[in-house]
Amino acid sequence: MASFPVIKTKDGIVSVHIDNREKHFTLEPLPPGFIDWQITERLKVFEFLRRGEKPAFLSPHLPTLLTLSDINTDHPINAASKGVGLVPLDEELPSLTTQLQESLKTLQGSDQHSALNHRLNAAMLLYGNQEKINRFCLGGLEIFETKSFSNIIRDPRVSLFFVGNFPLYQCYQINCIAEIIDVNQDFYKFVTSMRGLFEMENFHFQQPMYPYAIKYHTIQVFDKSLKVRDK
Ligand SMILES: Cc1cc2nc3c(=O)[nH]c(=O)nc-3n(C[C@H](O)[C@H](O)[C@H](O)COP(=O)(O)O)c2cc1C
Repeated sequence: MASFPVIKTKDGIVSVHIDNREKHFTLEPLPPGFIDWQITERLKVFEFLRRGEKPAFLSPHLPTLLTLSDINTDHPINAASKGVGLVPLDEELPSLTTQLQESLKTLQGSDQHSALNHRLNAAMLLYGNQEKINRFCLGGLEIFETKSFSNIIRDPRVSLFFVGNFPLYQCYQINCIAEIIDVNQDFYKFVTSMRGLFEMENFHFQQPMYPYAIKYHTIQVFDKSLKVRDK
């Protein structure tokens, strides 16, 4: 198994070795406007699904992930779309994960309508309880283990770039330290269970497996939403 950067978080500081030197980054919380936007847009999707409609593009869930390639290559920046979502506080993670896993189990064999309600209710365990949301990280799943992934292994400093839909065009650059999380950890189980609730929706490509989750520790947030220029 490849060796991944060891990331430690303590007292609001993330520490990691990059190029054999230990670096320390201060965590910055996701701003309330960003969290509200994430929740509101997810709730809209849940309403779409209840009405039997399909969302066209869930922009708050699909930021561009920018990673750094080896600086000696012709062009050291890599971009990819990645599904990313809110995650619970550490102390809420085990119980929410268990509840999601139980929901997934009971879904097997249930009819389409009650299954949808059940799935949305399960997702609301996080999205309906703001106080349980971790404001210092986001979660996603690694599928392909290609360039973004090898870049994260070499240098876990990444940016997530979100652009919202008309009319507000919310836009955030969130600089993060990306931590690779293996299948045995609650964080992986939470993110895969949340994804599992929506895996069969036709806006997802069903995947045979997810080798890792990625925990994005947020260290800088820039609100780049569109505004009118002063003069
Ligand atoms: C709509 C969309 C969603 C995607 N979601 C993910 C995802 O959640 N996780 C992932 O590993 N790749 C995802 N991908 C694939 C990546 O964008 C990219 O194709 C893949 O990581 C290979 O690029 P790379 O070698 O530069 O990393 C998604 C692609 C698209 C177009």
